[in-house]
Amino acid sequence: MEEPLVQISAEPAPAAPVEGRRFYIETFGCQMNVHDSEKVAGVLMARGYRPVAEPEDADLIFYNTCSIREKAAQKVFSRLGQFRKAGAGKSSNKIFAVLGCVAQQEGEEIFERAPHVSLVCGSASYPKLPELLEQLENGSRRVMGLSLRTEDCFETELTRRDNRFRAYLTIIEGCDKRCSFCVVPATRGPERSRPSGKILEECRRLVDEGFTEIQLLGQTVNSYRDPSPARLSFAELLVRVGEIRGLRRVRFTTSHPRDFTPDIVQALDACPTLCDHVHLPVQSGSNAVLRRMARGYTREEYLEKIDCIRAAKRAISISTDIIVGFCGETVDDFEQTLALLDRVGYDQVFSFKYSPRPKTAAGGWVDSVPEEEKGRRLVSLQERQRQIQILRNQACVGKEYEVLVEAYQPKLGQAVGRTTSNRIINFPGRPEWVGTYMNVRVTSAGPNSLVGERADNAEADAPPASRLRVAAQG
Ligand code: 5AD
Repeated sequence: MEEPLVQISAEPAPAAPVEGRRFYIETFGCQMNVHDSEKVAGVLMARGYRPVAEPEDADLIFYNTCSIREKAAQKVFSRLGQFRKAGAGKSSNKIFAVLGCVAQQEGEEIFERAPHVSLVCGSASYPKLPELLEQLENGSRRVMGLSLRTEDCFETELTRRDNRFRAYLTIIEGCDKRCSFCVVPATRGPERSRPSGKILEECRRLVDEGFTEIQLLGQTVNSYRDPSPARLSFAELLVRVGEIRGLRRVRFTTSHPRDFTPDIVQALDACPTLCDHVHLPVQSGSNAVLRRMARGYTREEYLEKIDCIRAAKRAISISTDIIVGFCGETVDDFEQTLALLDRVGYDQVFSFKYSPRPKTAAGGWVDSVPEEEKGRRLVSLQERQRQIQILRNQACVGKEYEVLVEAYQPKLGQAVGRTTSNRIINFPGRPEWVGTYMNVRVTSAGPNSLVGERADNAEADAPPASRLRVAAQG
């Protein structure tokens, strides 16, 4: 059923001409949010708005927010507060919009906490953004898009891509998994997959525009279910994307262990453009905790998936997410998580203290592990993982890797390259190398990155300048 757009107040305000209006977007949180902001920017630009780099120069200020943990959710209110303090007069003719997960979670209350906000819109309602903007342009003072009842994905005619060589591309939105700690199903709505034909067409267009790396996105990317008659599985889709001529790297994130099937590993083995890296969040190494988290797998089942990845013909690097101090987590549960780190040998771990979230099952449970204890567990986990990463990275010393140069640090004269396995290698370079691929030999290793030197003397394998220009405009 279609929910009406809610317009809670229609005080007349002067409708400024759209042409020449400037907007600024600040993005918090995950890659999905980064990409949503690119699409929102596309919608705005298609309506004649112009992007600016500083909020001070903007007529419209958008905050695309994250509510995965409480700290993240608080950030937007401190930003909105900073602006109010900076002088009501100066900011009074600016329009403020709160998008994304905090918008969905807090809804109308945002207008109470920050009365200078005019637009509140959750990600499931982004397909309605053009209508909501039109209402603002016609003088509505407060507009909301908060329906989660959508079958639609957020499709735009124009997407502004902020990276010249890596393009993000959503293949599935929302999440149906209902892990007890996680706010995502409440903020992003149910899973909706895009038809495979549309995805492949967009990939081909991106390659024509000069992008050489595509990152397929979804909160649970491998839960992809092709709604079109082609009925491609996720693994088949990966291979079809990986076979597109001109594409050099395909990544995908984030995989849910429950839907991580052996055919995905077979796809990685069969198709060299699929990067040799899997991000597979485990969250905990204890079965008791996994059960309370409603993750839908046991430690043993998770390890079977890891063994399947390790049995691949290629070496595939593995990263994960871990929550420490979840409701009822005992010292013994935590020890099992530490032991899991040793057993798996992750190349990277993102770890977080449990933070109770509203509208989640666990949000109503006793948050039993004291804050200081959560802190101690986090430090101890990170220290254990640091040792593991030092050893894993040291094994790279003396070897050669192809990197995509993603940045240049002028102060250090260093290029920052990324291997297909998602390792960072810093090496002496030049600014014009950014966006090119080159071979680098690793000379030393730290816990989080490698140091190297260029292994080939050939000139950088640069895409033609004309293609780069198109990509930059795209
Ligand atoms: N508290 C702490 N960490 C969380 N994450 C998700 N929800 C919470 C929460 N309530 C972490 C998980 C997830 C990552 C994106 O954020 O580890 O994989």
